[in-house]
Amino acid sequence: MAKGFNDRIVATIDVGTTKICVLVAKQLDGQEIEIIGCGKAPSDGLSKGVVVDVAKTIYSIRAALKEAELMAGMPIESVTVGISGSHISSLNSQGVVPIKRGDIREGDIAAVLAAARAIPIPDGQQVLHILPQYYVIDGRDKVIDPLGMHGIRLEVQAHIILGAIASVQNLVKCCESAGVTVQDIVLEQLASALCVLSEDEQKLGVAVLDIGGGTSDFAVYQYGSIRHTKVLPVAGNHFTNDIAVGLCTTLKDAERVKKEHGTAGSEEAMQDEFIEVEMVHGEQKQVVHSSDLIRIIEPRAQELLSIVHDEIIKRHLEHFITTGIVLTGGGSLLKGIQPLAEKLFDMPVRIGHPKVPFSIPDSLQSPIYATGYGLLLHTIKKLKANETSDLHGPLIKKVFNRMKAWMVDFF
Ligand SMILES: Nc1ncnc2c1ncn2[C@@H]1O[C@H](COP(=O)(O)OP(=O)(O)OP(=O)(O)O)[C@@H](O)[C@H]1O
Ligand SMILES: [Mg+2]
Repeated sequence: MAKGFNDRIVATIDVGTTKICVLVAKQLDGQEIEIIGCGKAPSDGLSKGVVVDVAKTIYSIRAALKEAELMAGMPIESVTVGISGSHISSLNSQGVVPIKRGDIREGDIAAVLAAARAIPIPDGQQVLHILPQYYVIDGRDKVIDPLGMHGIRLEVQAHIILGAIASVQNLVKCCESAGVTVQDIVLEQLASALCVLSEDEQKLGVAVLDIGGGTSDFAVYQYGSIRHTKVLPVAGNHFTNDIAVGLCTTLKDAERVKKEHGTAGSEEAMQDEFIEVEMVHGEQKQVVHSSDLIRIIEPRAQELLSIVHDEIIKRHLEHFITTGIVLTGGGSLLKGIQPLAEKLFDMPVRIGHPKVPFSIPDSLQSPIYATGYGLLLHTIKKLKANETSDLHGPLIKKVFNRMKAWMVDFF
C-alpha cells in the first residue's frame, strides 16, 4: 500500500509513550481526503519516547494496526512512523556549491544539501532529517525556494536532526515485526507542527511544544522553515508519577485525578474540593484536598516550562518566536497550563488542536492526535512531491531517489 499517492491510501503510526495510534487516509475522487481507518492501543513498551521492551511494543502496534485495518476494511502494508526520545539531537550546518548551468535545478539543490550534510556524525548516530532553512545565491539575499533562479554560487543554511541508530532500528524492527514496512521516519514535533501551526504563524515566527507522556518535543519556526528543535525528557507521565508518590496512591488513580481535578496554577484552582483517591496498595480509599494536588502539579509544570524557557534564552530563540507558543499533545490538556505558560514566557500561548484539510471525527479532535495527523499530512505532501518530481525525467529522479534515503524536505 501507499507506493505513491495515486494508490490513494496512506497509513501512519504514532508510537507514543502512552498510546499507539494508527491512522489510514484515502484520497477520494476530486482530491478530497478521508480518514478511513483509526486504531488505538495503550503503549507499554516505551520509556521517554524510546522502545525499551520490544515484545510489548510489537504487541501494542499489532493491536492498533488490527483495529485500523478492520475499520479501513483492508490490510496495511507500509507506514510512516513518528520518532522522538532524548537520543535526538540537532545542529545547524552550511553547504556551498557552484551552480552548474546558470539556473538552479533540483540537482543543484540536492548537491548543496549534500554539502551541508557533510559533517562529522558522532558514533552510533544517524541523520534523520536535513531541513533547509534558507538559501543564498551569489552571497546576496536569503531565498526560501531557489529553484529556477539564476546565479553562479548556491549556499544553504540547513537544520540537521540526528538520532541514535539503535533507537531508530528498534522502532523500525517493532513496526516490521508487527507486519508493516516502514517507508519513512519523521521527527514527532515536525509532524505535530505541520498539523497545529498556521502558515502565517510559521512565516512570522512561532514555537510548538508537544507535551506527550514521556517527552516534550519543542520546535521553532520562522520564515516558513525550521529554526530549532529539542526533545525534553519531562512530560505528562512525570506529573502522574509525582501525584502517585505525593498522594501515596496508585498510578492509575493518579492519572485519573490529574485529568479530572489536576491544575497547573493556583489561580485556576480556587475551587475548594475534597477528592477521594485509592491508597497505593489499592485496598482502601483516602480523601485529599485539591490544594494538595496543586502543590504537586504546579512545581512540575513550572519546571517543565522553565526548561523550555531556558532553552529559548540559551539558544537566543526569542526573536524567532514573534507570534507566541502553541502547546499540543495530551499534556496540553492539563487545566491551567496555558495561563501558567503565558505568565512564564511572557508571550501569547494557545492550545493547538489538529487543523487538517479534511474532516475528522469528534473523538479524534484532541491535541493527543496532533502527531498522527501531522504524519499523515507529511506523507501525503511527500508522495505528491515525489509524483511531481517523477514527471521531471529519469536523471533528476535518479538524483532525488538517491537523496531520499536520508532527506526529508518539508518545504
Ligand atoms: N485532560 C488531561 N489533563 C492532563 N493531562 C492529560 C489529559 N489528557 C491526557 N493527558 C496526559 O497526556 C499524556 C499523553 O499525551 P500523548 O498521548 O500526547 O503522549 P504520547 O504521544 O503517548 O507520548 P510521547 O509523545 O511522549 O511519546 C499523558 O501523560 C496523559 O496523562
Ligand atoms: Mg506523542
